[in-house]
Amino acid sequence: MTTETLNASQSGTFLLGGDLPVHRLGFGAMRITGNGVWGPPKDHEESLAVLRRAVELGVNLIDTAESYGPHVSEELIAEALHPYPKGLVIATKGGLERTGPNQWPVNGRPERLREGLEGSLRRLRLERIDLWQLHRIDPDVPEDDQFGAIREFQREGKILHAGLSEVTVEQIERARKFFEVVSVQNRYNLADREWETVVDYCGRENIGFIPWFPLQTGKLAGDSGSLTKVAKHHNAAPAQIALAWLLKRSKVMLPIPGTSRVKHLEENIGGAGIELTEEEFGSIV
Ligand SMILES: NC(=O)c1ccc[n+]([C@@H]2O[C@H](COP(=O)([O-])OP(=O)(O)OC[C@H]3O[C@@H](n4cnc5c(N)ncnc54)[C@H](OP(=O)(O)O)[C@@H]3O)[C@@H](O)[C@H]2O)c1
Repeated sequence: MTTETLNASQSGTFLLGGDLPVHRLGFGAMRITGNGVWGPPKDHEESLAVLRRAVELGVNLIDTAESYGPHVSEELIAEALHPYPKGLVIATKGGLERTGPNQWPVNGRPERLREGLEGSLRRLRLERIDLWQLHRIDPDVPEDDQFGAIREFQREGKILHAGLSEVTVEQIERARKFFEVVSVQNRYNLADREWETVVDYCGRENIGFIPWFPLQTGKLAGDSGSLTKVAKHHNAAPAQIALAWLLKRSKVMLPIPGTSRVKHLEENIGGAGIELTEEEFGSIV
């Protein structure tokens, strides 16, 4: 595929919350941080270049979180892209603390969620977050307090839309009594289909499903794996087919592959333009 035709728009458009159009293939900004998602990235300039190239290639949904770095990912997004182009949706998250590399204690106390949101607004240089997601429901804090805080943020105009992460259908339904859940971000990829029922539920309810770790392919990408066969047929990289498979799986699927390298970003965007046949889709298991 030439760079002229390489564009995230080829993945189609989804209306988040019924009024916020995003190209279905987005970008996850967790990998533009240091090892263990801690501290600054190894290559600052390359991280800025990844963000700018993503937007140039039609990405208009960027996922981040206050906890990535912490703060580093949001700061880099503002450094690379502010003032933001019209239509760019930056989706951030709150509800996790950071105590060291790869450590993510949950904290859903309403005052902590508010502090996180205020920090995200400041770092991203925004007056309102288009999509704010609760990173995890804190089992030690009453759910209603966490959901109630989100409803309050919305009433105050600090967030437009809200979503959840790593949740069951029952949890989504309980949250919907407090606010409109426009997106659900659960771990889902070719090799990890634990959340099939949540994908189906989101499809029925027209809730965006944002699969994290979308490029994990396990054994499927091995020499004799079914993914490799389909990739060869399309003259494509296995990562591109993994993304094309997700895009075909559901019309509400919004993959956000993450990378710290422009080369990988361009390869991943190439997945937007690949259409799998029903037979190919079914053969990748
Ligand atoms: N809600 C949650 O709890 C949660 C949890 C985890 C992540 N997320 C979000 O989901 C996004 C995606 O998840 P993820 O970053 O964990 O997983 P991913 O996108 O499936 O994979 C990223 C990894 O694959 C490598 N990679 C990317 N493109 C590649 C390519 N074309 N060829 C070879 N390797 C490639 C990256 O390394 P290089 O940097 O070397 O390319 C990186 O190590 C994150 O960025 C974050 O925004 C959310």
